[in-house]
Amino acid sequence: MVRPKILVACQDRAARQRIAETMRFRYRAVAVEDGWLALHLVNTADFSAMVISERLESLSGLDVAYSVRTSGFNMDVPIMLVAREVTPRIREMLEGGIIDRCIDETAETGAFLFEFNAMCGARAERAWTDLSDDVERVLRGARDAYSSVFAATSTEEPLDARLIKNTADLVVEAVQNGRITAVMNALQDHQDYTFVHSLSVSAVLAFFGREIGIRGDGLGVMAQAGFSHDFGKRVISHAILYKPGLLDTAQMVVIRRHAQAAGEILRHSDGVPTEVINVAERHHERMDGTGYPNGLTGAGIDDLSMVAAIGDVFSALIDNRCYKPRYTPDEALRMLRNMAGPHLEPHHVAKFVEVMSDTGFASWMAPPMEPPAADDSADPS
Ligand SMILES: [Fe+2]
Ligand SMILES: [Fe+2]
Repeated sequence: MVRPKILVACQDRAARQRIAETMRFRYRAVAVEDGWLALHLVNTADFSAMVISERLESLSGLDVAYSVRTSGFNMDVPIMLVAREVTPRIREMLEGGIIDRCIDETAETGAFLFEFNAMCGARAERAWTDLSDDVERVLRGARDAYSSVFAATSTEEPLDARLIKNTADLVVEAVQNGRITAVMNALQDHQDYTFVHSLSVSAVLAFFGREIGIRGDGLGVMAQAGFSHDFGKRVISHAILYKPGLLDTAQMVVIRRHAQAAGEILRHSDGVPTEVINVAERHHERMDGTGYPNGLTGAGIDDLSMVAAIGDVFSALIDNRCYKPRYTPDEALRMLRNMAGPHLEPHHVAKFVEVMSDTGFASWMAPPMEPPAADDSADPS
């Protein structure tokens, strides 16, 4: 698949390059510093999104945005404004739909990416109405449940266990009707990584469970465990959660907190099965004791948590993220095989790889996007 284009209009060359670099695995960025040039480009070629700085050469970012919305070509393109502060005029343009989002020009890259992804995710959700009803129902059910869970940012606030159960039921139904890869392919256009990953792990676990003969409540529990395993990420800041590139040691400590946090959230909530809580707490434990949060070894990790760890890694590898290439399912299965033993339970890995290969799961997925070239951002300036 060819990566879609985004237009980055920004006076500061370093900022333009940072944005283009941050998004290079997902988009081909066309970066300019001049407002009139930005307007000319957006009126002559298709763009998936625009990032415009308030201050530009010759024409302000707000004027560019206003012209885009009234020009007829690309008039629905999501527009994110980068500004020093939200002035009354910017607020008016946000409310009027001239711009979709406004972010502080000093925002960290992680926070910037979160806002950008949320903007594009909202657009992807509007397009769900074009999908078949059964696929749309799974996506909307899961999205509503996810949004409700992530509206809270602490571990104290309980969640409604019925939301997880309902989503799991939709996922299991899609698996049983042979529609789960249609759901997963539709997910590729969404950019809220944690949402996409939660639903993806749920789908992968339910698919695998059904193929190895699990039925009824057991299958529902696998789908619930997959959907909720990373709910602890609601306590992690966007700057860390969406930071492109490697995390430093302190940030690793913070993000590792999500496993324990997920357990705390689910324990505070009535009606969540114990197996689901176990998976939330243990999906990062590893056979040789090098995992977290408790450094459990193989004997201390239940079977479902070991299987969930495999589905979690597989799903993370095939997920689309701005900051990394998406691996094909075949590549992901090869990488899983290399992790069997010290990290992932080898018998479960062997079965998982066998099932995913034999069922043709790999071939059902849409191909990943073309890899970026060493320097492929177009910067006329
Ligand atoms: Fe996790
Ligand atoms: Fe995960």
